[in-house]
Amino acid sequence: MCKAVILGTGSCLPERTLTNAELEQMVETSDQWITSRTGIKTRRISGAGEYNYRLAAGAGRKALDNAGLTAAELDMIIVATLSPQKIMPSTACFVQAELGADNAFAYDINAACTGFTYGLDLASKYIASQPEMKVLVIGSETLSTRVDWEDRNTCVLFGDGAGAAVLGSRDDGRGIFGSKLRSDGRLWNLLHMDGPESQNPALQPEDWQGALIRMNGSDIFKHAVRAMSGVVNDLLEQQGLSVADVDLIIPHQANIRILRKLQSRLDVPDEKLFVNVDKYGNTSAASIPIALDEANQQGRIKENDVVLLCTFGAGLTWASLLMRW
Ligand code: UT7
Repeated sequence: MCKAVILGTGSCLPERTLTNAELEQMVETSDQWITSRTGIKTRRISGAGEYNYRLAAGAGRKALDNAGLTAAELDMIIVATLSPQKIMPSTACFVQAELGADNAFAYDINAACTGFTYGLDLASKYIASQPEMKVLVIGSETLSTRVDWEDRNTCVLFGDGAGAAVLGSRDDGRGIFGSKLRSDGRLWNLLHMDGPESQNPALQPEDWQGALIRMNGSDIFKHAVRAMSGVVNDLLEQQGLSVADVDLIIPHQANIRILRKLQSRLDVPDEKLFVNVDKYGNTSAASIPIALDEANQQGRIKENDVVLLCTFGAGLTWASLLMRW
């Protein structure tokens, strides 16, 4: 039976690096606090012209090159983002135009940090019914445009960037073979973007303070550890596998302490856990595809390896996905 398989990966990061030392000049914080509480040392911040769709297209182009495909061969483009180029039209349509992917249809999904994994799952389901399809899935964020730079609780955490994967099909047992996707909308207010509700007709211009990220960090922390370890265990159990059968775990890169707690709950050895949160911070939907591309480029993933993704984000949303590379 055909399965959706990743044919190529790519990523694109803004030029500018923002260090903890620079953040010390912006809010009341310290390199010592940020490093010990989050593991983050640097993050990338978009500059002039480094728009969301351009980072996304840059990552997409590299993933196409890596797969040996052209943009004209794409049938579908999914962009996962919570910081879209515009609310309308979708960032995916901008990417389609930028790449010249004239034969594709394109749309965005918003599942916050979980978006790329939801996107892979979606692509795998299209490919299951139409194995000839080639699908580009991108996670791309310019969170720096959505961060309150006066709020030390959040501004030290987030970064910009994009990562992408091109999917096709194979019938040799390799590919995506399991996933579990979860949400709990009752807890939306733990992590959300401020701003006017679309349905509020009485909104005045002076009510508009900009759409900025608000987070209850310690509650999100606890939910993230519980939800990710739970969904990974559920998925492994469903597939009759254990952590010993997995070659590499690529988790959402939010905070090194979350990753270490997840590692200890799941009993994962260091060499099986991919970590790059120190370099890029939390890039939301872009975090897993950037990490996946780094792992791929570094040769950390070999043919037939079992790779497990797990993620957690606003919504709340969380998910895990398994593939044989
Ligand atoms: O992508 C998925 C969504 N996001 C996440 O997964 C993030 C989840 N949460 C976290 O990573 C952590 O909760 C944080 C890193 C945000 C905070 O770490 P924490 O250990 O949970 O700290 P806390 O929220 O309990 O705050 C401890 C103290 C507070 O001071 P008081 O009230 O105890 O005096 C904060 O005001 O640390 C203070 N604080 C800071 N101090 C220096 C918060 N941010 C900073 C800062 N620099 N940047």
